[in-house]
Amino acid sequence: MRTLRTPRLRLVPVTQRNAAELWLVLQQPDLRTYQDLPSVGVAAFEGMVGRRPPRLIEGAAGRFEWLVYMHRSRRALGWVSLRVSAGEPGAAEIGYSVVREFRARRIATEAVSALIDEGFTSAGLSLVRAYCVPENEASRRVLERLGFMRESVLPRGASVSGRPVDVLSYVLAQERWDRNAEIGPIAGVAHS
Ligand SMILES: CC(C)(COP(=O)(O)OP(=O)(O)OC[C@H]1O[C@@H](n2cnc3c(N)ncnc32)[C@H](O)[C@@H]1OP(=O)(O)O)[C@@H](O)C(=O)NCCC(=O)NCCS
Repeated sequence: MRTLRTPRLRLVPVTQRNAAELWLVLQQPDLRTYQDLPSVGVAAFEGMVGRRPPRLIEGAAGRFEWLVYMHRSRRALGWVSLRVSAGEPGAAEIGYSVVREFRARRIATEAVSALIDEGFTSAGLSLVRAYCVPENEASRRVLERLGFMRESVLPRGASVSGRPVDVLSYVLAQERWDRNAEIGPIAGVAHS
């Protein structure tokens, strides 16, 4: 995993060394309204991160995560993740969150865009999937702006705070991403 840079952001790989910083971000308000996040103590979380695969290369499966910072800032304002499936080679699920005070500045859009590029180039992915609950309009907006296509509704496809919820499934194929990049930045998103 490597550090990714965009016009405004720095995406730093999460390893056991900086896992506590991600754990702190995970404790911020509003992040669990629409998604389930690990509810473990910091030491257990560091252990979980330590067991992840270290390198995002073709064929590696598991969870890969980056902390998101503004350039010249040391305060993490969110994270992005890729979960590469062992059962579906070439496919990964993307995840993202931005803390409340930094929202609605297209930070998620910019960070997710950089991670998609990384997935299609370094990890040899051909497909990126995303899931979100229908009520999560900001998340849907991020996905639709980046060119994700809505695939289906998965009734009771996930659980949030122990309750089953319906989930929208989205997909973005590499050809579509590359084609959009050729035409020009997707709706104002600068590819890094
Ligand atoms: C979803 C999330 C990551 C978006 O982060 P963000 O940095 O604010 O996203 P962006 O600014 O790039 O894009 C959000 C878009 O949705 C719009 N938006 C925000 N809240 C909205 C709402 N309630 N209804 C409709 N649109 C909304 C924003 O105006 C923006 O639109 P624009 O691109 O036309 O300007 C952030 O809200 C978040 O972390 N939420 C909690 C965790 C979460 O739900 N993660 C995703 C799980 S699937």
